[in-house]
Amino acid sequence: MCGIVGYIGHRDAFPILIKGLKRLEYRGYDSAGVALLNGSLEIYKKQGKVSALEESIEGSPLKTTVGMGHTRWATHGEPNDTNAHPHYSHSTDYAIIHNGIIENYGSLKKELGKKGYKFRSDTDTEVLITFIEDIINEYDCSLEEGVRIALSKVVGAYAIVVMSTKDETKLVAARKGSPLVIGVGQGEYFLASDATPIIEYTNEVVYLNDEEVAVLTREGLEIKDFEALSQTPYIHTLDLALESIEKSGYEHFMLKEIFEQPNSIADCMRGRLKAADGHLVLGGIRDYTNALINAEKIIFVACGTSWHSCLVAEYIIEELCRIPVEVEYASEFRYRNPIINEGDIVFAVSQSGETADTLAAMELAKSKGAILFGIVNVVGSSIARTSHEGAYLHAGPEIGVASTKAFTAQLVVLTMIALKMSHLRGTIAERRYHEMLVDLERIPDKVATVLKQAKKVEEIAYIFKEAHNFLYLGRGLNFPVALEGALKLKEISYIHAEGYPAAEMKHGPIALIDENMPVVVIATRDKSYDKIVSNIQEVKARKGKVIAVVTEGDALIPKMADYIIEVPDTKDAFMPMVSVIPLQLLSYYIAVMRGCNVDQPRNLAKSVTVE
Ligand code: M6R
Repeated sequence: MCGIVGYIGHRDAFPILIKGLKRLEYRGYDSAGVALLNGSLEIYKKQGKVSALEESIEGSPLKTTVGMGHTRWATHGEPNDTNAHPHYSHSTDYAIIHNGIIENYGSLKKELGKKGYKFRSDTDTEVLITFIEDIINEYDCSLEEGVRIALSKVVGAYAIVVMSTKDETKLVAARKGSPLVIGVGQGEYFLASDATPIIEYTNEVVYLNDEEVAVLTREGLEIKDFEALSQTPYIHTLDLALESIEKSGYEHFMLKEIFEQPNSIADCMRGRLKAADGHLVLGGIRDYTNALINAEKIIFVACGTSWHSCLVAEYIIEELCRIPVEVEYASEFRYRNPIINEGDIVFAVSQSGETADTLAAMELAKSKGAILFGIVNVVGSSIARTSHEGAYLHAGPEIGVASTKAFTAQLVVLTMIALKMSHLRGTIAERRYHEMLVDLERIPDKVATVLKQAKKVEEIAYIFKEAHNFLYLGRGLNFPVALEGALKLKEISYIHAEGYPAAEMKHGPIALIDENMPVVVIATRDKSYDKIVSNIQEVKARKGKVIAVVTEGDALIPKMADYIIEVPDTKDAFMPMVSVIPLQLLSYYIAVMRGCNVDQPRNLAKSVTVE
């Protein structure tokens, strides 16, 4: 987590840095700071959001055309003014911003302490910049050389930017495990954790690779690896519109992203699916078609919401392709000794493409000879680049911390892959395959239909806004939807919520049910319909309040449930794409009514780039 931004060129640096930090605030918002260099190296930093930093600056900040900024999600040291970035080195001649963790900072701090260095903060970051300063003093070398030598002795994952009063003409940046994008302008360069602060100025970017050090001056960009070998920067042209990273009239990014889903799902299918012609092509997986045909096992690794979409994929792939599927929390997978054989297929699913646990699970699988498919939203992200093959979600930037449109796009991409695989493997009848393509193509319209009920969901939210607990129940493909609904509510409204397979309720959670317990039941008409009707009766018998998501035209459940939300009918495999929408809306409205910061919930960050 943490957002990094840097600028060197001919424009006033401060407004560029502040605007960039606001765009990156979704990555962390415990504190913010900027460093500006012009004759002196001035640091301004403050606990809280970027707006608090702006308010705290008295008078005008140092006028300059070179600077860097940081928005923090705390790892080492509590979030306060002192621990906020940037950090000075011991002498204050150097300053650093850092995203990630320096694992061996304790031993480095001890060694530097013995040499007489003193520290102002509790952070690993201050240790790193002081270590860099110590190396520059010892080797009498340039800033970039000092950074390179220091990083070769450091253990951890990081993206850093460093500047110094000793040479005001440059910014030095480096990365290992945390993203860093360089924007290439005319006589100016930008640096950021993702492209959103850059796109306003240039769409030409260079993605810094792991173990590379970049030197940015007004005259040019030079990149070397940690062995000091020069690297040729590859310039990508980004296809990212400015409007896609703005709220466009919506009160929150989350609401905008919920309402974007008919379009984001259509974008995700565009060029890949044309049901009338029986066309289903995913360019990114074409080269590994044989591996998919011959696969004996598929493993999914992911975290959070992305993990929920993998659970849905498990049901669909097992049903359509008859291949055993394992869905693993990436953070658990890497710490056991999982059985992975040469040629096994591992899908890594991630919105950000930067989740540290997922990346580490991929590295482990790669070392055992697995074929890695990345299903990722952020183009050029670390997971995308670590994968052998994969497919982008094309959902557009997702800025709200609570994932919504990325989830439905993941479902669409994974379903398209399942359909393609089943067709290639001959495990699906031709007629069923075509019917499914036709129905899949209709999903954007069905999602739009659900969104028309936003008002009704808002009214239900009003009734339950003060609840202390929620239970979410679903069966089959709607069980992961129950998990996702509960996660959405927890993370943005801070109401305790649990998702359960409806039949498991009687093995424990049923004890929680009384007249104060709202129970959201995803009870669309599928093969477990009769069973879930019984589960609703069990809840009602204990006076629980049932909010049921049902298929349009259902005549039975409305008689039992306290509140119902109808969704259009679709094939069972696609129902999660539709049934999750009211749950996203419900959590959004409840959180707003409780006065929560929906886009930036407490303690969370959009991409979790630390273990
Ligand atoms: O970027 P990723 O999809 O890898 O992120 C995984 C989780 O951190 C993420 O889904 C998280 O659970 C969201 N806040 C859920 O809304």
